[in-house]
Amino acid sequence: MTNSLLILPGDGIGPEVMAEVRKIIDWFEDKRGIAFEVSEDLVGGCAYDKHGTPLHDDTMAKAQEVDAVLLGAVGGPKYDNLDFSVKPERGLLRLRKEMDLFANLRPAQCFDALADFSSLKKDVVAGLDIMIVRELTSGVYFGEPRGIIEEGNERVGINTQRYTESEIERVCRAAFDLAMKRGKKLCSMEKANVMESGVLWREVATRVGQDYPEVELSHMYADAGAMQLTRWPKQFDVIVTDNLFGDLLSDLAAMLTGSLGMLPSASLGAPMANGRPKALYEPVHGSAPDIAGQGKANPSACILSFAMALRYSFDKGEEATRLEKAVEAVLAKGLRTADLLNVEGATPVSTSEMGDAVIEALNESL
Ligand code: IPM
Ligand code: MG
Repeated sequence: MTNSLLILPGDGIGPEVMAEVRKIIDWFEDKRGIAFEVSEDLVGGCAYDKHGTPLHDDTMAKAQEVDAVLLGAVGGPKYDNLDFSVKPERGLLRLRKEMDLFANLRPAQCFDALADFSSLKKDVVAGLDIMIVRELTSGVYFGEPRGIIEEGNERVGINTQRYTESEIERVCRAAFDLAMKRGKKLCSMEKANVMESGVLWREVATRVGQDYPEVELSHMYADAGAMQLTRWPKQFDVIVTDNLFGDLLSDLAAMLTGSLGMLPSASLGAPMANGRPKALYEPVHGSAPDIAGQGKANPSACILSFAMALRYSFDKGEEATRLEKAVEAVLAKGLRTADLLNVEGATPVSTSEMGDAVIEALNESL
């Protein structure tokens, strides 16, 4: 089977972190004999600059055809005043929606070498390894009606939280499947105390849970979940939640680990004809325009996103682990990009030096 990959570096630090991923892809081709058919295109502000839209229809069509899309980051201050419909973020949201990538996997893993870097006490985060499964194609992000309307002599901003049973069911199933492969614990988070969509969410999660008797299912209000995540995050294994709560909780969980610069994500949809899921991989961090083009960005999150692609799209779990271990080894050696420099005894490295160090660690793994 061929392995087709569409690379969308995007804006800000996207292109520079993606350049490091290209080195890693080449390494897997050369040294592990895994061939990739790589194409590259625009998304976000750079696509707007060229085409007047953050995602050209041709790019959308390409994304639908490939085995996996790897995205850098979108957005920047230059685009802040654009109309909502052509903002860089709309490009990303269109990919998620049209590819129907309903399950967004956001691991929050604390690397040993970075445990001191978290704003929480070391014993709270050391060894942390949790997975947030965020629903990505529905809820208040997409619900209708939406908009800003005139009412009397003022304007009203409207968004709608809306979930069908089948939307809840499929993301819960994905989360239960993951829990089976991990610690067999799943916590579902909503606000069933104030939202009908939360009541339905809890009911459907419980029903799906009957098919997974081995998984210990618990429920938590999302606000309490945020509190528990900061109090004692190691109580969790897999968390499943809706689009907006997942957006918030995954940023929170990310910061437990010390740096957004380390965290990858996978957004998965239904299986395609070849059995592989529709998939888009991207770092959790944004385009960080303030440090773009200065060699300060940490390419690890994007590199680890490619590792997730190896695991979930290309059925190369062992090679994914090899890559994850290589990143860990580089951290253990004390190499640090600018985002991680406060750690004592760190050796500062640039974006490309970090990528080179990962390649070196991969070579050592052979
Ligand atoms: C994320 C981001 C996006 C979101 C933005 C860039 C549209 O915050 O992936 O978490 O809100 O989903
Ligand atoms: Mg977010």
